[in-house]
Amino acid sequence: ETGTVQWRPALHYTPERNWMNDPNGLVFNNGLYHLFYQYNPKGNVWGNMSWGHATSPDLIHWNEHDVAMSANETEEIFSGSIVVDEHNTSRLGSANSSPLIALYTSAYKAGSGHPAGTQAQSLAYSQDEAQTWHPYDHNPVLTLSPESKNFRDPKISWYPKGGYWLLTTVVADAQVVKIYRSNNLLNWEFLSDFSLPGIPHQGALWEMSDLFPLPLDGDKNDQKWVMIVNVNPWSIAGGSGALYFVGGFDGKVFVPEHLPPAGSDPSQYLWLDHGADFYAAGTFAHEPHGKAVIMGWMSNWDYAEHVPTAPWKGAMALPRVLALKTIDGIPQLVFSPVDQYTSLVQGQPAARIETLTVSSSIKELDPSTQGTVQNIAVTIHPGAAQRAGLIIRGSAKGDVGTRIFYDTSNHTLTLDRSQSGETNFSSAFSKQHIVNLPLENGELRLTIIVDRNSVEVFANNGRAVITDLIFPTLDDNRISVFAEHGDATFNDLAITNLSDLTN
Ligand code: FRU
Repeated sequence: ETGTVQWRPALHYTPERNWMNDPNGLVFNNGLYHLFYQYNPKGNVWGNMSWGHATSPDLIHWNEHDVAMSANETEEIFSGSIVVDEHNTSRLGSANSSPLIALYTSAYKAGSGHPAGTQAQSLAYSQDEAQTWHPYDHNPVLTLSPESKNFRDPKISWYPKGGYWLLTTVVADAQVVKIYRSNNLLNWEFLSDFSLPGIPHQGALWEMSDLFPLPLDGDKNDQKWVMIVNVNPWSIAGGSGALYFVGGFDGKVFVPEHLPPAGSDPSQYLWLDHGADFYAAGTFAHEPHGKAVIMGWMSNWDYAEHVPTAPWKGAMALPRVLALKTIDGIPQLVFSPVDQYTSLVQGQPAARIETLTVSSSIKELDPSTQGTVQNIAVTIHPGAAQRAGLIIRGSAKGDVGTRIFYDTSNHTLTLDRSQSGETNFSSAFSKQHIVNLPLENGELRLTIIVDRNSVEVFANNGRAVITDLIFPTLDDNRISVFAEHGDATFNDLAITNLSDLTN
């Protein structure tokens, strides 16, 4: 049966069945990465929001566990985060182990003692390495006054310089991030608000914030702070997407630098991803090498509920490492797949083509390059061609395929999924995603991660990423290269099949 099983990803996490959205409680503890997530235990659409749970030793192979926290008569469990309370500041640990502390959003129902539909931040703790969770006796730990229907998504981190815990939350419809501090994770003191003057995008919700430091250009003494704000709608690719700001943080107030003038359109802002399917992104707590490893939900609120997969709906994008680099005088994030993924690829045989020149034509590659789960690395010299690129997940007839190409007159990289397979499940399933990207020494270097229902394109050392869902059939497994109106050269093409490694 083809059904929708053909779209079950091999490299990307999906729950066995039912609906999933945001990653929650991303934390590394005792050799395992934990991924919790917004989950409906009862169906394949959004609802009954609970925290699903999976763990992985390497961020690639995941084991699904029992639901960690379930919606009940009084509340649903919306997004939040987890930290390891190493010094037992909360006093919720047992005699022999540090507790894990989760802060999540209580979305209250009628009869809860809170007005129906209001939201507040609650705490749960685990004394057995995240296997079982107990709600704190005095929940919620943080409420707005008056109570708000849009106060959510607590993200906790440790602030070493001040020796306290930091918390960012959003008032989604007021387009504000609220920052708090605490010594014990139980009592929170308000520090400051982050919002934008003259917000150009009234009506966009601000959700799932994250605030963390990174060295600029690898210099540990030159630290900047990154503020992630996921916005819905108003994303660069339409619908929901992940915006970020770079600036300073003094332990109290975040001050962004290089803000575009009020009234600017999305293209003037900085985005974690230029595709349509990267949302609710946040970082892992206690990452063992001190890196900023980020995970995002690989979907878009514009059409997430109509995506044609069953009995599950929702996948996570491949985890990525963030670094800060000065580009055109402005500190910006650059992105790479996690090291564990890169070594997985390097350990496998690859089909290699040293150099290939194409003149105003399309050339299908050798059958040895065919596959549905693969890593494609290539350096393209678009030369005099007007457009040059690849078609992946292509059909034998050539009527299906996802096109990834450079446009030499516009200096843009495009992912075109208009003929990528099934596309008509939603009129909001956008067709083309485009990012401005200069060539480097006349070259465009791409790492393309292809899975059964997605493609992630990392361009020019991670200066831009495009993540998009696609729904081709398993027979659409061909790769072609093409050049329009001129010659283009493709160098160091390496295609690594990954399907055998991952199931
Ligand atoms: C983001 C979001 C969060 C909320 C959760 C509910 O996608 O809307 O703001 O906590 O999803 O499932």
